[in-house]
Amino acid sequence: MSKLLVVVSATGNQGAAAIKYFQQHVPSYKLRGTTRNPSSDAAVALAKSGVEVVQADTNDVDSLKAAFQGADAVFAYTTFSGILQTPEIMGKVMAGKLPPPVGQYAFDVEVQQGKNMADAAATVPGLERLVWSSLSGVKKWSKGKYTQGFHFDSEEVVREYMNSLAPLEGKVSCLQMGAFADNMINMPERFGLTKVDGQLRWAYPIGESINTPWIDVERDTGAFVKALLDAPGGTQVVGASEYLNGSEYFKLLCDHLGAKGTYTEVPFDSMVSDDPTGFKLEIAQVYAFVNEFGYDGGDPEVVTADELEKRGYKVPRSKIADHIKRSNWSHLAVA
Ligand SMILES: NC(=O)c1ccc[n+]([C@@H]2O[C@H](COP(=O)([O-])OP(=O)(O)OC[C@H]3O[C@@H](n4cnc5c(N)ncnc54)[C@H](OP(=O)(O)O)[C@@H]3O)[C@@H](O)[C@H]2O)c1
Repeated sequence: MSKLLVVVSATGNQGAAAIKYFQQHVPSYKLRGTTRNPSSDAAVALAKSGVEVVQADTNDVDSLKAAFQGADAVFAYTTFSGILQTPEIMGKVMAGKLPPPVGQYAFDVEVQQGKNMADAAATVPGLERLVWSSLSGVKKWSKGKYTQGFHFDSEEVVREYMNSLAPLEGKVSCLQMGAFADNMINMPERFGLTKVDGQLRWAYPIGESINTPWIDVERDTGAFVKALLDAPGGTQVVGASEYLNGSEYFKLLCDHLGAKGTYTEVPFDSMVSDDPTGFKLEIAQVYAFVNEFGYDGGDPEVVTADELEKRGYKVPRSKIADHIKRSNWSHLAVA
């Protein structure tokens, strides 16, 4: 009999990617996707593609319990930008009605949503695997040096909570998603990428020679989820299509665009001025953490995809050069 994979927030980047991968490469799984709004265009398109689409809200544990029933596996994640970047929340931030740092607000919401998903998964008798899209604990692995990495820390707090629930013992595996390659297209300025006088400039607070994980979310998320369904529970892997240092990534981009480029490592402190919300400090501290402790914080339990393959679990991955080639860089076109 087919196994059932429930994908939370199936309209989102990670969820939609996982669904697409399973449809194309693992047809033996039945797929159910949750959404807050089954009549949205994205949800309707998913249903048309054969996914069982059900209404559930990660703020509502009962809706999750209903959505997870019968699942053999669940892929779950939260979205801190989805939480923060609503007109209501941003309005409160701008009006000074939400006390800084705003990341604390998103942290509280994400942790509660994660706990809701854990509590719901714990009610499913036949559940074999809960794959949690996690990140390393900034406060934990920096030994308290960096305290503002809220959107990383929330994922770690949820991971610990999931592992504390007896019905989920041995069933929780984690996918520490690397930096989304799409960031450079969707938010180039936030990531310090600009075009000045026909040349590319990348002002980035990560050392040029430091390897960081990059993921082609659309192509590779599902391959990692599948590998974690096959591997023993408790496995934690960094979701990286490739590890590239700043020079390597920038060379790929400049070569593709036929542009000259300058990479400058900027100090973290230069990123945090003029921001009463505390959000820039949060981002700067995450960069500082990655620079100093590595993306996974040096957690010895977190493995790479290569290590997972050595253990016998295939993780087909794409090349970041291919992501660069197929992406629309018109905003950075160099005449
Ligand atoms: N950008 C990076 O480099 C990077 C790297 C590693 C990890 N991450 C993590 O990835 C996460 C975002 O993942 P993503 O880009 O796949 O998510 P996303 O596409 O922004 O959103 C996922 C889905 O969640 C649902 N959603 C939105 N706001 C929500 C809310 N307030 N409550 C409940 N559901 C909500 C929406 O679906 P419906 O409207 O259909 O319900 C949305 O389609 C972040 O939390 C971030 O920490 C990002």
